[in-house]
Amino acid sequence: MPVHTPAAYPAARLRRLRRNAALRDLVSETQLTAADLIWPVFIREGQGVEEAIPSMPGVSRLSLDVMLKKAAEAHEAGVGAICLFPYTDQALRTEDCAEAWNPENLTNRAIRMLKAELPSMAVMTDIALDPYNANGHDGFVVGEEIVNDPTVEALVKMALAQCEAGADILGPSDMMDGRIGAIRTATEKAGYQHVAILSYAAKFASAFYGPFRDAVGASGRLVGDKKTYQINPGNRMEALRCVARDLDEGADMVMVKPGMPYLDICRAVKDEFSVPTFAYQVSGEYAMLAGAMERGWLGEAVMLESLLAFKRAGCDGVLTYFAPAAAKALKA
Ligand code: PBG
Repeated sequence: MPVHTPAAYPAARLRRLRRNAALRDLVSETQLTAADLIWPVFIREGQGVEEAIPSMPGVSRLSLDVMLKKAAEAHEAGVGAICLFPYTDQALRTEDCAEAWNPENLTNRAIRMLKAELPSMAVMTDIALDPYNANGHDGFVVGEEIVNDPTVEALVKMALAQCEAGADILGPSDMMDGRIGAIRTATEKAGYQHVAILSYAAKFASAFYGPFRDAVGASGRLVGDKKTYQINPGNRMEALRCVARDLDEGADMVMVKPGMPYLDICRAVKDEFSVPTFAYQVSGEYAMLAGAMERGWLGEAVMLESLLAFKRAGCDGVLTYFAPAAAKALKA
C-alpha cells in the first residue's frame, strides 16, 4: 500500500489530531472489543473449588459449578467464547489416553453444561492428548517417538465426542500432520457439518507454555520436549506453509501461538491468506504481564495495550486469560 509522504512541518503537525480524546478517537485505526476475546479456562473435578495456579497470578482451576458462574459473568461483560482445558485426575492419565474421548470426561460434561445454561456463549475445545497422557505429550509415545497417524485416529475420536457434547469450535492444538483433514472428514460424515475448526496452525515449540503445563498438571510428566511436532521459533515460512496446509484441509480459522513474540507471523498470515486469524496470548505472556502488574512494576494498562496490538497486527480475535478483566475494563 503506497503511503503518502506527509507535508513537512509546520504544514504538517501530527499532534493536531492527538489534541483531545474526541480527535484521537475519530482517527483511531484499530478497535478492541470484548467480542474479540476467547477466554481459556482450566477446569477440574469437585464442587465450589477455585484452586490458584501459582505461576499464573489471578488464574485458578475451577470446578464446573464455579466455571459456569464465572463464564456467565464474562459473557455478561461481552466475552463471546470460552475455551476449555481440563486438569485430569492423575489416575486417568494413561499411555492409551482413553479418557480423551470418554463422552463423560470433564471437558464433555462442561460443554453440555455450558450449552444448556449459556447457549449464546460459543464453546471451544482443545484437541490434543497431553491432559490425558501419562507422559505429557500431545500424541502417543512409542519408544522415543511421538507417533503421528495413530495419534490422528485418537484425535478424531476426541473431536467427535466433543461435537456430540455440543462444541461450537474445535481447537486442534496437537500439531500432528493430517489432523485437520481427518477431523473435517469425520465431522462431515457424522453430521457435524456446522462445527467450526480453529486450527492451532502456526504453533511454535515455545518456552512460553510453561505455566500452562503447570495448570493442566503436565509439567512434571513431560519427557523431553515438543520439538518434533511444534514449529521451530525461527521459521516464518514453515509457519505460513502450516497455515496453507490447514486451510486446504478444512480449517475455518487459524491461530498463531504464542502471540506477542510472534506478531510478525500474525501480520504475515492475515496478509497472505485473508482468513479469520487469531493469536493465543499464552500462559507465559500472561505470567509476565500479570506478575509485573501484581508487583506494581507495570500498570494495568498493559493488559488492553497488549491485546490491541494483536488487532493492529491483523488478528480478528485473541485467546487470553485476561478476557474477563479486559471485557470489564473495556466497559468502564
Ligand atoms: C497443548 C497445549 C498447550 C497450550 C495449549 N494447548 C501447551 C503445549 O503445547 O505444551 C499452551 C497454552 C498456554 O501456554 O497458555 N496441547
